[in-house]
Amino acid sequence: MEFHVSLGGRGALAADVYRQLREAILDGRLRPGERLPATRALSERLEVSRNTVLDAYRRLTAEGFLTGRAGAGTFVSTESAAPEPRRRAPSGRALEPRPLWRALASEATLSAPPASHDFRVGIPDPSLFPRDDWRRLVARQLRKRDRSSVYPEPAGVLRLRAAIARAVGLSRGVQAGADDVLVTSGAQQAFDLVARVLIEPRAIVAVEEPGYPPAHAAFRAAGARVVPIRVDGEGIDVAALPPETRLVYVTPSHQFPLGTVMSLRRRQALLAFSSERNAAILEDDYDSEFRFDGRPLEPLQSLDQSGRVIYVGSFSKVLRPSLRLGFVIAPETLMPALWSAKRVSDSHGSVDAQAALAELIDDGMFARHVRRLQRTYRERRDILVEALTRELIDFLEILPSSAGLHVSVLFRRRRVDAKAIARAVRRNDVAVESLDGYFQRRPRAGLVLGYGLIPASKIREGVRRLAAAIRAHWS
Ligand SMILES: Cc1ncc(COP(=O)(O)O)c(C=O)c1O
Repeated sequence: MEFHVSLGGRGALAADVYRQLREAILDGRLRPGERLPATRALSERLEVSRNTVLDAYRRLTAEGFLTGRAGAGTFVSTESAAPEPRRRAPSGRALEPRPLWRALASEATLSAPPASHDFRVGIPDPSLFPRDDWRRLVARQLRKRDRSSVYPEPAGVLRLRAAIARAVGLSRGVQAGADDVLVTSGAQQAFDLVARVLIEPRAIVAVEEPGYPPAHAAFRAAGARVVPIRVDGEGIDVAALPPETRLVYVTPSHQFPLGTVMSLRRRQALLAFSSERNAAILEDDYDSEFRFDGRPLEPLQSLDQSGRVIYVGSFSKVLRPSLRLGFVIAPETLMPALWSAKRVSDSHGSVDAQAALAELIDDGMFARHVRRLQRTYRERRDILVEALTRELIDFLEILPSSAGLHVSVLFRRRRVDAKAIARAVRRNDVAVESLDGYFQRRPRAGLVLGYGLIPASKIREGVRRLAAAIRAHWS
């Protein structure tokens, strides 16, 4: 690595070089075992004589900071301590973010550390990722030398947009062509872009209660007033929406986190509200590829007659979250603004990953992969529901979940401290989340159990340990 040395001016150059190298070793920027530049190379770079650098190296070697290995070069001594890099303390008044961002930064994060029996939510099984196919497809992209890999349109690689339009048309009945699709860096960026182009400061965005906090944060960041609306067995309570709502954010295929499917009646009521009140609907279809029972209901996007539904999808659950691939399908009237917002935000996503995904979909590998995942996750869901029923049915209600990667449960007693139960079972190496963090107002006592990470063979034992913690808490 290039090491930056700033020379103060005339004279005492060797002392300057010595002092700065010593500081870098002490504060950890140069780590034990790291190789220093050759004296000749460093002296040329700094435009000083080689003796100046040699002097500094000799002094540091004599003090034990550096060691020389004949023929190999000069290294930071492995005995020198490597503390955390030091941050410079601000002088005068420190820089502060806008108050809005201070508030957002202090929102609780929901990520918990891993456990041997891991029911954390929303994380797909990394071992099921189609590694070999992906490696081959990306390698093929990297071998290409044509211009297609240079700054494409902000909406993303055309072939991928066409593949997405076809795929969601087939699997979900979503009506779209390539021009209606904008590829995003995960669903999260879609929320952010939609919020930027649609929401005036102080506008009301209605969201499900309980709901998905990262989406709410994107709306707040755009200056929205986020209003939580209770979800019942049919979905969001449309009658409770404030009349001046500008945007309604919903997860109709598989409510996050409760798992409810929004009924057809409720979908129609929501669409009627949206067209009467000129409110947009943001339909987040984040995990509907994993549908285990029954026929899926029509998405709001295809029921909509008035062009007010924005449909968002994600490849985070079917492939992996770290790829950051998602998309938004929006009414024609919003597309130019969304293109601009995407360009302002990050120009466009990673071209190689987008082109690789287009091939994965077009060649049928993606559909085969999804069918394989469906079998695996359905088995896990069945084992989990069966184990919860056997061990815990007296204590909790298991909410039906016909899709996705998680099951939620509600305690039959209202005054149960779900967070305390989650903490207690964590001590027995089981990770579950309480529902508390997904509510903005008074939470219902419950837990959410993901089965993306836990193999089928560990589910029953995980539930046994959970049952023990709940029984201990109950008495
Ligand atoms: C409700 C909901 N929407 C969207 C997503 C997907 O987010 P992303 O595509 O940004 O990874 C998740 C992932 O956990 C989710 O739970």
